[in-house]
Amino acid sequence: MDRRLLLYGTILTLLAFSFLSEIHSASFKIVNKCRRTIWPGFLSGANTPQLPTTGFSLRSGKSKTVSIPKHWSGRIWGRTLCGEDSTGKFSCTTADCGSGKVECTGSGAKPPATLAEFTLNGDGGLDFYDVSLVDGYNLPMLVVPRGGTGGGCSATGCLVDLNGACPSALRVARENGRGTVACRSACETFADPRFCCSEAYSTPDTCGPSIYSLFFKYACPRAYSYAYDDKTSTYTCASADYMIIFCPSPYTSQKLLGARKDGAQLPLVNKTTMYMASQHASSSGR
Ligand SMILES: *[C@@H]1O[C@H](CO)[C@@H](O)[C@H](O)[C@H]1NC(C)=O
Repeated sequence: MDRRLLLYGTILTLLAFSFLSEIHSASFKIVNKCRRTIWPGFLSGANTPQLPTTGFSLRSGKSKTVSIPKHWSGRIWGRTLCGEDSTGKFSCTTADCGSGKVECTGSGAKPPATLAEFTLNGDGGLDFYDVSLVDGYNLPMLVVPRGGTGGGCSATGCLVDLNGACPSALRVARENGRGTVACRSACETFADPRFCCSEAYSTPDTCGPSIYSLFFKYACPRAYSYAYDDKTSTYTCASADYMIIFCPSPYTSQKLLGARKDGAQLPLVNKTTMYMASQHASSSGR
């Protein structure tokens, strides 16, 4: 075979491949609807491509789109009440990643933190995603797939402000003691294998929901509330882009969630709990 032809053939194939992988890679639009600045953080899973960013600051009302490699898996969270000390070391009151900088560069969130978890182009070419409160809660968060071509493509998240309603044993107070900034998981608070689904309780049959995980589950029916909460908490979609909204309005419109029939078994918000949380929040003076 003509060597030049072979070379052209190879170049064309490479071009086609890079073009294809280009069009199938997802984008995440991160939106801050909180009243204050937040600092989103990103952690890539093992053996997964790195992202162009691992953390940035996002002012109230702003959004930023990040392009995501095709087979990425990892987690996203929002840090709050961040700043630099006199030596220039950056840290956050909640969900800090301990890097000392705005970029997290391979470090995860210190619990408690609301987490959005993704595995893109996994089994059957589907994206798997969830919003998890297994490591506690610090911010309301909503994940909305856009333009997906398969799977249920339901929105998921936790729309209730759970800091106000957090059971007192699980509360993380602000440094000055005024107000709750995050709500810990029972596992982190009590280090009990029953809550952590560890040791003698490390299987789905031996580890069930607790009164604490049910507090999270009632308020945010679609979010992960303990380690084996998979059935009602993991969602799938194919070839979608995702909007990740911090502090979404609890009354998020059907238009934003997409016209498609929602495949989720549980409601996105529990109106009873939302009412209770707002009562708590206003009585605690926030
Ligand atoms: C909503 O919250 C109430 C009270 O907290 C609870 O009894 C109910 O089961 C919850 N509904 C859902 C769908 O989780």
